[in-house]
Amino acid sequence: MNLLASRPSLHMDGQDGLLFEGVPLQTIASAVGTPCWVTGAGTLRRRTRNLRKAFTERGIDISLHYALKANDHLATLTVLHQEGCGADVVSGGELRRALAAGISPSQIVFSGVGKTDAELMLALQEDIGQINVESVEELRRLSHLARASSLTARVALRVNPHIDAETHDKISTGRLGDKFGIDWADVPALYREASTLPGIDIRGLATHIGSQILSPAPFKAAYARIAEMVVGLREEGLSVSVVDCGGGLGVRYRDELAPPPAALAGAIAETLGHLDLKLAIEPGRWIAAPAGVLLASVIDLKAQREGISDFVIVDAAMNDLARPSLYGAWHGIIPLAPDLAYAETAPQTVVGPVCESSDVLAKDRLLPAVRTGDQIAILDTGAYGAVMSSTYNSRPLAAQVMIENGQWQVVRKRQRVEALWGDDSIPEWLDSE
Ligand code: LLP
Repeated sequence: MNLLASRPSLHMDGQDGLLFEGVPLQTIASAVGTPCWVTGAGTLRRRTRNLRKAFTERGIDISLHYALKANDHLATLTVLHQEGCGADVVSGGELRRALAAGISPSQIVFSGVGKTDAELMLALQEDIGQINVESVEELRRLSHLARASSLTARVALRVNPHIDAETHDKISTGRLGDKFGIDWADVPALYREASTLPGIDIRGLATHIGSQILSPAPFKAAYARIAEMVVGLREEGLSVSVVDCGGGLGVRYRDELAPPPAALAGAIAETLGHLDLKLAIEPGRWIAAPAGVLLASVIDLKAQREGISDFVIVDAAMNDLARPSLYGAWHGIIPLAPDLAYAETAPQTVVGPVCESSDVLAKDRLLPAVRTGDQIAILDTGAYGAVMSSTYNSRPLAAQVMIENGQWQVVRKRQRVEALWGDDSIPEWLDSE
């Protein structure tokens, strides 16, 4: 099974079925019920260390600001904090979560278009490490807020370098016409302005060109543009001490040739390594995606006419894992039972119970003949999985479990169905009996 060959955290055991970090997933699925997300702390740690090592080997001292949006569970954040990661946050909520996980404010970077005054004030009051400013207007607003409260913001300007990351359209962020960052041609003038604005301590530049990037070339092109800008600004006598290189390193979901971290480290070393900068990256997916699986059970089977894949209807759906319906994303699926591991396969389409035809988790997938009640694992769902869930169709948020060193624990209870309407209220005029 080549899905297992490239995933060192997963093994098929002849007795216990599919193991994740050595724990039989059938045990978890049966005890906790499905759908259920499982995060492997060992995998999070191993990947973080491998990522860091790639940079150390290139002689680059890198700060890892884990992008919370990929998986913001407090247990995940605690593991990554223990591994020495700071945080990249994109909302007041994420900022509060990072602080709740014990991440020091100085290790937090706040990116994102559309930061409100309240969010900028929170960042100022918490004295976080860096705010990546995304527009002229935001810079001036931040200066005003900082001055009015006698605080100072450490700032980097987020550059839109007009580089196509050659990834899915919906997760590209660095092209002309994308809403993110400041047009690179406008950056020098704004940097000059920033260096004169009260309450602003301008430190450097940031960029993030997209996600699930599978080639080093766009990284290199973007960082070369940033490097040129650093040199130009310094020639004007301006101080540039930090460059935040963003996230975006892709992973193998199917059979993609995902670049190793050494390729990203190489791109950064070649373009920015000689400029005596404090360098940072904001990885999310690369660390978290392979560290999670989503467990589901087969509810029903529906045969189709000749030539059309039979349907396997499971209890996880697009409200749990949005990626397939949103981006046409491909996630590996492996039944948990050992007897199915080597059974003959046939094309089947795995769908959830949500009332939309887009609720397809896997189309025309070669799978063994599963039976009602069988359990499956949907792979590589540790990033942009649980965080993107909704309660559409009044489906409660699924339970979450963390594994480490053979132990496992529920880290988020399945949402109670009553909680779905717990905050609803009925207008008085409807309530008067
Ligand atoms: N930094 C910034 C400013 C970002 O916007 C992002 C992701 C990252 C870092 C982390 O990127 P990563 O290393 O995870 O590629 N929901 C989509 C992905 C959206 C990514 C948004 N920004 C998906 O499921 O593919």
